[in-house]
Amino acid sequence: MGMLDRIQDRRRPESPASPDSNGARVGQVEKPATGEVTGKVARALAQAGGQKAPAADSAASSKSAPERQATTSRKPALTGQSTDPAAAGSGSAANAALKLRLHTDLIKRLDLAAVGKVEQSVVGEEIRGIIAELLDGYGVPLSRTDRQRVLDETASEVLGFGPLDELIRDPTVSDILVNSASKVYVERAGKLSLTGVRFRDDEHLVQIIDRIVSQVGRRIDSSSPMVDARLPDGSRVNAVIPPVALDGPSLSIRRFSEDPYKIDDLVSFGSMTAEMAAFLEAVVCSRLNVIVSGGTGSGKTTLLNCLSSFIPEDERVVTIEDAAELQLQQPHVVRLETRPANLEGKGQVTARDLVRNTLRMRPDRIVVGEVRGGEALDMLQAMNTGHDGSITTLHANTPRDCLTRLEMMILMAGVELPVKAMRQQISSAVDLVVQQARMRDGSRKITRITEVVGMEGDVVTTQDIFGYVVTGLDDDGKVEGHFNCDGIRPRCIDKLEAFGYSFEPEFFASRKMSCNPSS
Ligand SMILES: Nc1ncnc2c1ncn2[C@@H]1O[C@H](COP(=O)(O)OP(=O)(O)OP(=O)(O)O)[C@@H](O)[C@H]1O
Ligand SMILES: [Mg+2]
Repeated sequence: MGMLDRIQDRRRPESPASPDSNGARVGQVEKPATGEVTGKVARALAQAGGQKAPAADSAASSKSAPERQATTSRKPALTGQSTDPAAAGSGSAANAALKLRLHTDLIKRLDLAAVGKVEQSVVGEEIRGIIAELLDGYGVPLSRTDRQRVLDETASEVLGFGPLDELIRDPTVSDILVNSASKVYVERAGKLSLTGVRFRDDEHLVQIIDRIVSQVGRRIDSSSPMVDARLPDGSRVNAVIPPVALDGPSLSIRRFSEDPYKIDDLVSFGSMTAEMAAFLEAVVCSRLNVIVSGGTGSGKTTLLNCLSSFIPEDERVVTIEDAAELQLQQPHVVRLETRPANLEGKGQVTARDLVRNTLRMRPDRIVVGEVRGGEALDMLQAMNTGHDGSITTLHANTPRDCLTRLEMMILMAGVELPVKAMRQQISSAVDLVVQQARMRDGSRKITRITEVVGMEGDVVTTQDIFGYVVTGLDDDGKVEGHFNCDGIRPRCIDKLEAFGYSFEPEFFASRKMSCNPSS
């Protein structure tokens, strides 16, 4: 069987038809609402992208052509002012029209039912073959680079995530934040920047969102307008569409790094000093209970992953996450993930359910990706009753704020505990709060390592061991400052020594520490 034979629809004429001829045909059928038409196309394209494909609805694909053309001619696709190299691939209005024509003809040539059965890599190759053949048939003069660009972009419309593909392929991009069809930001090396990537319109963006979430068996529509999911490659994706998102659909993708940062990387980035890293290693190995506290995107999960890597290999670890991001290398790890309710509102499994279940799984350590609610109580109880050495993250801006948030979370568990009892629970469970922050220049720093030492009256008492002091900004906008050691010998040192770690008294001597280990 020839290369292009497998996925081509032999029932239809092979000669490339122009969008105009489609338009004439559409005129004869009753024209449904735009959303419906493009919805079908989105589904068909999602199928072309490797989903299970029912027989193609040829009427739907031909009906879509004028709609697509109409939207494209209203807003020349993928153009606009560029602040990012990614915009270079966006092409001109003429290219956009060409891509639309190609796209339309391609859909007609494909046998979507066959596409679903053929392996993804083969489909990709064959689709590119058909696009090249169509392009040759049009006889449009194109430079070699333009031809390649049109080919790549048309293929990614059908097979991938359209305008986002370029960003997804770019290994320097860590976050992709789509605020609206015309505003796409990326984060590179901790810095957010606006890109020139554009979607044709909101509908186009919804199609891509639909394709992304349907890959992981989730759905998004006005009756369930929010999805938080993990892609097959481990990236975390969150999508919100109207009516909840007021200014149009929005999408955020936190790229999964196949090679996650190690503690040495964080030291070399200047996120902590080598001494702080050594102290944290001793703390984790000595089974202290640690909370990593920080704001959104401050690097909590990254740090949690690094800390978890210190857990000895012979210990049984159970991880609980909303969207599994941790990449523990130990052999003895059981990974659990929460589940949202299904369409009928059933089947929800919360972090609290999982923490409770975990206690019956004989874990040596429990690692909870992030505590947000009532599970905090179960987690604290676990920490207090033999599952010490547990680690979690919590969204808070200071260590003190972190402890207050824990109190709020205990209340969310619906347990009526006197304040003092709550605080006692917290102070005896939590040994250390590691505060992480995203600085103004996009760098991440451990701004404080704070020990919880006990109670004085009704108040949980803490002491800072290490910290970071900002002194200013340099000419390039980089944060200047230094880490310091507060000169306090931690109370937990006895426990660390019991586990075989010894620290010279100078280790905790009050001093400024070098922020950049290489300087
Ligand atoms: N020390 C660091 N230096 C530079 N970049 C970092 C550092 N730690 C994390 N990052 C990057 O910052 C981004 C956010 O990291 P991470 O997911 O760990 O944050 P988070 O606080 O868990 O975010 P969220 O609040 O969304 O859960 C990632 O792209 C990650 O690669
Ligand atoms: Mg996180």
